Parts: sequence; structure tokens; C-alpha cells
Amino acid sequence: MAGYDRKAAFDPAEDVEILRSRGLGRDATLIDFGAGTGTFALAAAPYCKRVIAVDVSPAMVSELRARAAGAGARNVVVVQAGMLGYAHAGDPVEALYTRNALHHLPDLWQAIALRRMAGLLVKGGTLRLRDLVFSFAAADAEAGIRRWIDATAVEDAAVGWTRAELEAHVRDEHSTFTWLLEPMLAQAGFEIVESAYAPIGAYAAYTCVT
Ligand SMILES: C[S@@+](CC[C@H](N)C(=O)[O-])C[C@H]1O[C@@H](n2cnc3c(N)ncnc32)[C@H](O)[C@@H]1O
Repeated sequence: MAGYDRKAAFDPAEDVEILRSRGLGRDATLIDFGAGTGTFALAAAPYCKRVIAVDVSPAMVSELRARAAGAGARNVVVVQAGMLGYAHAGDPVEALYTRNALHHLPDLWQAIALRRMAGLLVKGGTLRLRDLVFSFAAADAEAGIRRWIDATAVEDAAVGWTRAELEAHVRDEHSTFTWLLEPMLAQAGFEIVESAYAPIGAYAAYTCVT
């Protein structure tokens, strides 16, 4: 877990700011799906009423609970659940976040998870979504994946992802194409108000509203 965080070296500040600029405030509830060790959830917690950090993994949930307690973040509620099985109690929420978690589901289930997420939001609520999604054409997939791996892979597995790990991701996980994910977001009832693709053709970030 610490290894993942070190490799990911993720700064959540930009995403916190984007959600704040779209109305995340002291009265708002935010759900983070696939919250992992809570890097984003803990960064967002000071700015809203409540963060519900959802993760399917008991190990992640236990680490997240320990971190939230260590940080004194009493408005972070940690729930062990999958994004398809999470049962929300209470009012719809103002904001949703998910980073590098949707790709754990195949496309059919991604579409269903996104639809469930849209159903959790108030009208005009915001989803901020980041994931490893490929923005090249299907015809360019082989070259695009090779280019991404060549540019991204490191030798030392302690500091980043190795070629073998990146190849395993493509083989075993469900990162899809931007041009498949975007219609899934539309089907779920989201309007994409901002999208950004990394120049390498992998990694995308979306801000979406209902
Ligand atoms: C690559 S980590 C990303 C963690 C965190 N969002 C981040 O950006 O650092 C993916 C996380 O998604 C969780 N996960 C995988 N499948 C899930 C599912 N179906 N529902 C909820 N969480 C899931 C994993 O347990 C893991 O913590």
C-alpha cells in the first residue's frame, strides 16, 4: 500500500480545487469510490461536511481508517464495499470522485457503476474521474500501448511501474478507450464539462455533471 502510494506519487490538490470550484463546500458530501489509502479523501475532507471513502479491499479500508484516525479526520466515513454494491443511506450527495478504480471493472460493469454513481448525485452534482484510459484509435492500439509502456516503464519497481507491471495491467485489467468511456458517461446521465488526455495517449481526467 505504501509502495503503491510511493509509485503513484499523486498530488490530489488539483482535483480538490476542481471540485471546490464546482461547489464542494462545507455543506457538501463527497463519495470517493475506490479510495485506496485515502490520499484524495483526506485532502478533500477539510473542505466539506463529510467524505464517504468506499473501497472493496479490507486491507485498504483498514489502512484508510488508520490514516483518517491519525489525521483526526472525523468527517471521513470509511465503507468497505464495491462500487457496484455500495448501498447509500441518506440524501443524494453533491460530489463524487474516483481515481484509478473504474478500470478494475469490465466495460459492461463500468457502465453500470457509472449509472449507479449518477443516481447518487443531486441534480447538478459533479463527478471527477481519473483513470488509465487510452485515447488513441483502435487501429493504433498496438503502437500506442507500446509507446506508452516505452515512455512510462521504469527499471526500479520501488519508484514506478516496470514494463512487466504495465504489460500486466493491459493484459489483466480493464482500461478502456476514451471513445468508449465517454458514451458510457453519457448513457449514465453525465454531461462531460471538461476532459483532458495525457499527450502519451494514456490517462484521462473528466469533470462531469448530472
Ligand atoms: C489503483 S488503486 C487507486 C486508489 C486511489 N483511488 C488512488 O488514486 O490512489 C484502486 C483501488 O480501487 C479499489 N477497487 C478495486 N475494485 C473496486 C470496486 N469494484 N469497488 C470499489 N473499489 C475497488 C482497490 O481496492 C484499490 O484500493
